[in-house]
Amino acid sequence: MTLRHWKFEDILRISELEKECFPKDAWNYRMLADSFENDNFTGILCDDGGEIAGYGGVTVGYDTADIDNIAVAERYRREGIGGAILEALVAAAAEKGARRVFLEVRVSNSAALSLYLKHGFCGVHARTRYYSDGEDCLVMAKNI
Ligand SMILES: CC(C)(COP(=O)(O)OP(=O)(O)OC[C@H]1O[C@@H](n2cnc3c(N)ncnc32)[C@H](O)[C@@H]1OP(=O)(O)O)[C@@H](O)C(=O)NCCC(=O)NCCS
Repeated sequence: MTLRHWKFEDILRISELEKECFPKDAWNYRMLADSFENDNFTGILCDDGGEIAGYGGVTVGYDTADIDNIAVAERYRREGIGGAILEALVAAAAEKGARRVFLEVRVSNSAALSLYLKHGFCGVHARTRYYSDGEDCLVMAKNI
């Protein structure tokens, strides 16, 4: 398995994984394709012999960065892939000058919350009824 940057031809499979992993707030094909127009965006994926095991993206704005998405295909979970992608996104953000990385997570998403805590993110504040279905969001951050 190798970590590498997204290529345009990966977008179709990533959009399918988005629908599987985020039934309520998936990025669609157009949103993913548009990320290639954004110099501040870095997309990284885990390639298992041509199969996309997981992926994520980060956007940097001056000295802060936002993790836009991170997901691992169901059959590849709990193998450290999510953590490896997260670390690679943080490293990419640092390389582009970010000093602090933010992300948003549904308060019910215990797997993601554990992943982020394990990798040094801390809760900074909550946003009440942030998601379209009314769920609250926790904003987390890490200094880099
Ligand atoms: C969250 C997600 C990306 C984690 O990916 P992963 O490859 O399974 O994560 P890792 O194997 O690197 O796990 C690292 C740590 O995260 C925590 N973790 C991951 N999945 C967990 C689960 N189901 N339950 C509890 N803790 C979990 C554990 O602390 C784990 O360390 P451990 O295996 O040593 O106990 C994956 O579950 C996923 O794609 N979920 C659906 C999409 C999603 O919710 N993305 C995040 C949006 S904010």
